[in-house]
Amino acid sequence: MSTNRSRITFEIIDEIKRRVQDPSFIICVKLNSVEFQPGGQTPDDCKNLCLKLEEAGIDFVDLSGGTFEGRAFEHKKESTKARESYFIEFAEMIRPLLKKTKVYVTGGFRTASGMVNAVRDGATDGVGIGRPLGAEPYLCKEILEGRVTGAIENFVPLPLNTQGTGTQLHQIGLDERLISDWSDEGEVKRWVEANEKETARKISILPNVDSSGYAPLRPEVGFDYLR
Ligand SMILES: Cc1cc2nc3c(=O)[nH]c(=O)nc-3n(C[C@H](O)[C@H](O)[C@H](O)COP(=O)(O)O)c2cc1C
Repeated sequence: MSTNRSRITFEIIDEIKRRVQDPSFIICVKLNSVEFQPGGQTPDDCKNLCLKLEEAGIDFVDLSGGTFEGRAFEHKKESTKARESYFIEFAEMIRPLLKKTKVYVTGGFRTASGMVNAVRDGATDGVGIGRPLGAEPYLCKEILEGRVTGAIENFVPLPLNTQGTGTQLHQIGLDERLISDWSDEGEVKRWVEANEKETARKISILPNVDSSGYAPLRPEVGFDYLR
């Protein structure tokens, strides 16, 4: 692992610890277990970084993966598909090496049973959820209360799927009454069109624009969550 590459992380940790002296203040570092691109972070880099983070007193690491160039929020292997989580095998490799620091893993979890199994199998101490919470902000509560057994479908095509969730976060931020429902094909089609327009607008301003940014869209079919 390049020391330079991780230096900023440790400088930030040092500064947090300097300013917040309460030992009950929890610090998590979310990091990539794999990046799927040349010169990117490898599982071995990740392992070494986790060991250094434990030394630095980090409470838990949250393992994820990929970059804007090398997308990873999809299954690369059948073995992980069966277990929902894209990065579960990395968590399994890293967890036994850490004595105090807890391991979480984020990416792919959609059902309560998938989440429970990941913890029960000992692969991870906890799980993180991203995109489903854009659609259903109360999903964790609903699962814990036994009202639902998992997240609804998301038909926004990969790799745009992250931006689709960004649109939902934007809707939540605007305090819309509805959040777009990506399990509705018509609503997804409206989003794809809005996203194409937004991308063209950005490219006209900045030709080398990256894929970040979220198409604004007023929901027509969705969840009446925000009442
Ligand atoms: C709108 C949006 C923005 C995100 N921004 C970040 C980010 O800034 N840093 C990061 O590490 N991950 C970011 N992620 C990735 C998520 O934290 C998560 O790792 C990813 O969505 C996979 O989990 P999921 O399958 O449960 O969605 C973002 C995801 C979404 C949907």
